[in-house]
Amino acid sequence: MKVMIAFATVEGQTEKIAGFVEEELRKNGHEVSVVKVTHEGQTPAFEDYDKVILAASVHERRHPKSFEVLLASQKEMLANKSTLLLSVSLKAAFEDGLEEAQDYVDEMKLRTGFEPDKEALVAGAVRSSSYDYFQSQVVTHVLLGEHGHDSRGREQEFTDWERLTSITKEFVEA
Ligand SMILES: Cc1cc2nc3c(=O)[nH]c(=O)nc-3n(C[C@H](O)[C@H](O)[C@H](O)COP(=O)(O)O)c2cc1C
Repeated sequence: MKVMIAFATVEGQTEKIAGFVEEELRKNGHEVSVVKVTHEGQTPAFEDYDKVILAASVHERRHPKSFEVLLASQKEMLANKSTLLLSVSLKAAFEDGLEEAQDYVDEMKLRTGFEPDKEALVAGAVRSSSYDYFQSQVVTHVLLGEHGHDSRGREQEFTDWERLTSITKEFVEA
């Protein structure tokens, strides 16, 4: 199967996720291309692929603008492909955050008009070393809250790699 992974990241966790999925799919004999979505980058050649995995992280309730612009402008092309959306956020790491994590996806679908065939909420990571004071306050108090983590001191990865493997394998091999 020819698979395209198009991803947008801010601190790098979604890039790590895209690389992990690429490796896993390659191990299973699939032909995989990975493209980073940016404002300056070229539109990925979706037409050359059977399946498309679209992955992006959430900051202040939204996926990157470049990612939304791509979805909105390519929605007709993507409608003819088999698509999986991976939405990477910290709210997705906790049972009591899943409803909000789903809201981010639903709001993006409304704004862009893009409807993936499958979608998954994927837990991201705390990357304290890349935060300024404001970002560290947002992550500690607004996002993690009573989950008790202090993002000023530690890096922490919440991504469930096994779950990611089964979601993407099931999508590609369906
Ligand atoms: C300033 C800031 C704002 C964020 N806003 C949200 C948010 O609104 N909801 C959420 O669930 N996660 C939020 N996150 C957490 C990120 O989605 C998470 O750290 C993710 O792993 C980032 O992925 P990336 O490294 O690929 O950009 C935020 C993180 C930062 C630093």
